[in-house]
Amino acid sequence: MKYVPVETIERFMKDVFVKLGVPEDDAKTCAEVLITSDLRGIESHGIGRLKMYYDRILQGIQKPKTCIDVIQYKKATAVWDGNHGMGHVIGVKAMQTAIDKAAEYGMGSVAVRNSTHYGIAGYYALMAVKNNMIGLTFTNARPSCPPLNGFTPLLGTNPICFGAPSDEPYPFLYDAATSISQRGKIEQLEREEKSTPPSWAINRQGEGVTDSSQLLVDLVEKKAALVPLGGIEEETGGHKGYGLSTMVEILCAALQEGSFLYQLKGKEHEKPAPYRLGHFFMALDISSYIEPARCREITGSIMRTLKNAEKLPGRNKICIAGEKEYYREQEVRRQGVPVNANLEKKILDMCRHLDIPGDFLT
Ligand SMILES: NC(=O)c1ccc[n+]([C@@H]2O[C@H](COP(=O)([O-])OP(=O)(O)OC[C@H]3O[C@@H](n4cnc5c(N)ncnc54)[C@H](O)[C@@H]3O)[C@@H](O)[C@H]2O)c1
Repeated sequence: MKYVPVETIERFMKDVFVKLGVPEDDAKTCAEVLITSDLRGIESHGIGRLKMYYDRILQGIQKPKTCIDVIQYKKATAVWDGNHGMGHVIGVKAMQTAIDKAAEYGMGSVAVRNSTHYGIAGYYALMAVKNNMIGLTFTNARPSCPPLNGFTPLLGTNPICFGAPSDEPYPFLYDAATSISQRGKIEQLEREEKSTPPSWAINRQGEGVTDSSQLLVDLVEKKAALVPLGGIEEETGGHKGYGLSTMVEILCAALQEGSFLYQLKGKEHEKPAPYRLGHFFMALDISSYIEPARCREITGSIMRTLKNAEKLPGRNKICIAGEKEYYREQEVRRQGVPVNANLEKKILDMCRHLDIPGDFLT
């Protein structure tokens, strides 16, 4: 494993986007969202994902130049069409618009259709948190999860993200898929040549699939499906993950007349086609409800009370959503971004093809 300085990886990602035709400022935005993922220890969605965007731009199913159409613009709401531009750029602009609307009207939201993969949802919720607001965002994703009792992969890993400022050193930031795991973690296991836990994905018989490389192929060929939060049984709450994922699908398609479920498969007539993803962004201006310092204090108090609960035998720590990522960021800044041999190969392939020096890895 190599550790590469954060600034080097961020600059490299920006250079790749620029070489692919993304305008300089937009390339900077994309690289910033991706490096935030690496900084927060979410290795599945940072430099490890760059090759996916690279491939999609070269395939012509994601446009490097982002042109947003405003379909509807009301006081506190808006509906946008992203025209298959860069999901990170669309996400940052949409959340900023939601924040601006919230500053004026107490709350603001933007629903987007025809976008592309926007990376970690947490980046956008944190934008609201930095403005003393509560931020929420959701995105649908290509079909990979079945409805409860079904096998057909129809729902995406559809993350839910909620961020709120606190008086602790870090905000509360819940940012996770509505499936037990998301595809990026399996890609990471494959890069590390490790197997997938049996509860994460099933075959047609409902049995766990653990061979990570095979699973990635089977997911594409619809021979395997990712399991929603709660698992495949009602007894373990499978209906809850399924319900939450469907909620995300509705927020990301029904308000903006966007594509949904199997329409997000990224293929038309067996050829690669835009994924037509939908997102939803919302900001709540805390000062429209309560003195922001008091809200931060109450949120902090909830976090502290949870952390101080009696622990189960053998468990030494209770965590709060957002905590691990906050501390991981300090480590990554010190240590650098981990790059394993498989990732290094992908980076060097992109360097060769785009004529970017790869010597920063040596
Ligand atoms: N764009 C997309 O299509 C897409 C799809 C799925 C996921 N994602 C992103 O992938 C990232 C990772 O998602 P994931 O499902 O693998 O997340 P995960 O399973 O790693 O869970 C992460 C969340 O759980 C919290 N957490 C972790 N351990 C905890 C503990 N012990 N106690 C309390 N809270 C804890 C974290 O702070 C974080 O909020 C997210 O940023 C998500 O937005 C994106």
